Amino acid sequence: MADIILKEVTKTFGKDSQVLENINLEIKNKELFTIVGPSGCGKSTLLNLIAGLEDLSSGEIYFDQKRVDHLPPAKRDVAMVFQSYALYPHKTVFENLAFPLMIKKYPKEKIKSKVKEVAGLLEIEALLRRKPKQLSGGQRQRVALGRAMVRKPRVFLLDEPLSNLDAKLRVYMRSELKRLHSEIKTTMVYVTHDQAEAMSLSERVAILHHKKIQQCDKPEIIYNYPQNKVVAEFVGSPQMNFLEGEIVEKEGGFFIKFNPEDWFPLSKEAYNFFDGEVFFGIRSEDVILNQKEEKGFFKGEIFATEPLGDRTYVDIIWGDNKLKAQARSDFRGKADEFIYFSFESEKIHLFDRKTGESLRKIP
Ligand SMILES: Nc1ncnc2c1ncn2[C@@H]1O[C@H](COP(=O)(O)OP(=O)(O)OP(=O)(O)O)[C@@H](O)[C@H]1O
Ligand SMILES: [Mg+2]
Repeated sequence: MADIILKEVTKTFGKDSQVLENINLEIKNKELFTIVGPSGCGKSTLLNLIAGLEDLSSGEIYFDQKRVDHLPPAKRDVAMVFQSYALYPHKTVFENLAFPLMIKKYPKEKIKSKVKEVAGLLEIEALLRRKPKQLSGGQRQRVALGRAMVRKPRVFLLDEPLSNLDAKLRVYMRSELKRLHSEIKTTMVYVTHDQAEAMSLSERVAILHHKKIQQCDKPEIIYNYPQNKVVAEFVGSPQMNFLEGEIVEKEGGFFIKFNPEDWFPLSKEAYNFFDGEVFFGIRSEDVILNQKEEKGFFKGEIFATEPLGDRTYVDIIWGDNKLKAQARSDFRGKADEFIYFSFESEKIHLFDRKTGESLRKIP
């Protein structure tokens, strides 16, 4: 068990291919912490640096206040589950699980009881005599996890361990992992490119993009208060709508002006204000739809509808803009019909158009 601190961690491959720039992170003891970002953003590199499989270009890494970045992997006592979990194909599940303990020359009886304990936790006792090719993807996944678990490491590093599973199994394994974490109570750093997985799995999430940690917080804070447009674009599905607008003050009130006719009032308290050009961000579930004309509603045209069973997405054309709104499953609008819409005023995001920084205060 350990807390992990990264200070100004930078990684450059070769001469000038910088992948990570001044990364600062504090991962708490026993925490389930997720790093999420698009493919190629440096997630595996960051885990490899923590594990000691890659050298830092600069910066420091600490486990429990002790500097570890000069230590070889074996001395750091981490267990890693790799993106492409490789089980030994000719060994049985039992032998795969036992292998890390055999290297450490544990006595036979101890190995047996350890493997049994971990197999019990992961519910794979019945599979111990099988070879990997006789297992389903999800079962192999568990064996790979089990192999990392047998020796009770200080830190678990999990690199997209669910990426080889089909969508249904992945969702199932998420809750399994969460439960597992609460049982073994060890620091876990989990890496994924899937934002929904990150949000549902972890206590805190760090968004890695453009070489930097863009935001690090509880999932609900990241979802409701993205600090910049990069985070707002990455988190949430479908993606947040962005419209260009301008903040204006009129008769003591503040408004976002989309065009000369279309204005929407803003509550002053929610933002760190400035006058000027912004991106107005609104999630599809925060667009209010109305099929009849009503005061305070904007008028657009339905471009297409996407019924999903439990809800329907409505794509709206509004002047030069396109907007995705979430409607109930019984929504009956059709393409080319007029549609009227407004916004949940507490769910409006504003981003500085030059810097992309959010103007919204985090309460
Ligand atoms: N050993 C290496 N030498 C040179 N460049 C590398 C090396 N390893 C990784 N890179 C580059 O660093 C960047 C980050 O790679 P990394 O594997 O960390 O990304 P990732 O976020 O894990 O991506 P994915 O989601 O696809 O697994 C990529 O552009 C990759 O090409
Ligand atoms: Mg990777």
